[in-house]
Amino acid sequence: MNILSKIKRYQHIIATNIRYPKKISNLSGIYYATLRKPVKHCFPPFSLDIEPTIRCNLRCSSCQSPYLKREQKDMSFSFFKGILDQFDTLLEIKITGMGEPLLNKNFFEMVNYAKEKNISVFSFSNGKVIDKNIAQEIINSGLREITISVDGATSKTHNSIRVGSDLEQVLGAIEMLVADRGKLKYPIISVWFVGRKSNIHEISELLDICKKINIDYLTCQHDLTFWGKEQWKEKIKNDALSKDIKFTEEIIKDAQKKAAYLGVRYINFQKNKFYNKFGKECYWPWRSCFIATDGRVVPCCLIADPEVVSLGDLSKMSFKEVWNNEKYQDFRRSIKEHNIPPSCSDCYEEN
Ligand SMILES: C[S@@+](CC[C@H](N)C(=O)[O-])C[C@H]1O[C@@H](n2cnc3c(N)ncnc32)[C@H](O)[C@@H]1O
Ligand code: SF4
Ligand code: SF4
Repeated sequence: MNILSKIKRYQHIIATNIRYPKKISNLSGIYYATLRKPVKHCFPPFSLDIEPTIRCNLRCSSCQSPYLKREQKDMSFSFFKGILDQFDTLLEIKITGMGEPLLNKNFFEMVNYAKEKNISVFSFSNGKVIDKNIAQEIINSGLREITISVDGATSKTHNSIRVGSDLEQVLGAIEMLVADRGKLKYPIISVWFVGRKSNIHEISELLDICKKINIDYLTCQHDLTFWGKEQWKEKIKNDALSKDIKFTEEIIKDAQKKAAYLGVRYINFQKNKFYNKFGKECYWPWRSCFIATDGRVVPCCLIADPEVVSLGDLSKMSFKEVWNNEKYQDFRRSIKEHNIPPSCSDCYEEN
């Protein structure tokens, strides 16, 4: 992550949590555990992804959300509150998942409750429902950051990937957010672009747009996740950029140069570079997890569907019971012993 963006993000997390020694000592414990990787892990997470809804007003081509078989019931505020009340160690949460977070009518109540508990909150949006009133609510909500997804610099490309979206409307919504925030420091307003064969050529033009609408930074993710599902590997493979970074290296280098020239902060994000079988294992099962709308616990947001992996159910048991149950310990063991589960295969370098 670009250093200035990192500083701003961490500044918020530090300012929100510095007065809570328990959170800081838990964080140190987690970092130590990340090195040792005990399967039974006595430090609770410092971060959570909480999915407020799986309903969506778009049908994006690479997203599993429109195809989920799960019940289309939003997470209630009382359930959300019940989750947060089980923790005194959380530094940040992400209120997002497989759906459009702003469609949950209790979204702002959730943000506010987390804020009252001194937790730094981040969310994603497709921008479709952001009008003048919602833009104001976002600015006043206390969110640390809102990231808007944009998948092209032309309407033709963006609208064909993000089916049901209108690029002009989304850019207008972002401009409204930037204008309403004025001189306030937060929320950070950023754009997330998922690069693929059908849109990567527009990254340079998107940088021009980002300069014009004056966002805080642009992230370019250059891989697609398969959500731990074999059939999705097939579905996305024709549009996915090669895992071999060389394929996109030139485009990325040019984008970096152009971003520097324009003075736009730009971040490259490639998840497949993260882990290998020689000691650089995934650390998610020791730090964080993804809680689905129905309360089931999934290891992370790259899977994001409890029908693929569910390690416990918060509608039936406490988080404490889930975090060290047999399933969680088995999952940690498989990561620790490099016995990588099929749902995680894409996060590991091939060798
Ligand atoms: C799942 S959405 C949820 C939040 C919101 N609905 C949105 O679109 O921003 C979060 C991000 O995941 C991205 N995404 C969708 N399908 C993906 C895939 N197969 N691999 C990686 N990212 C994907 C979206 O483009 C979006 O930026
Ligand atoms: S990427 Fe976001 S907006 Fe698109 S279908 Fe998935 S959840 Fe909905
Ligand atoms: S290795 Fe598995 S748990 Fe870790 S980030 Fe990848 S999919 Fe998630």
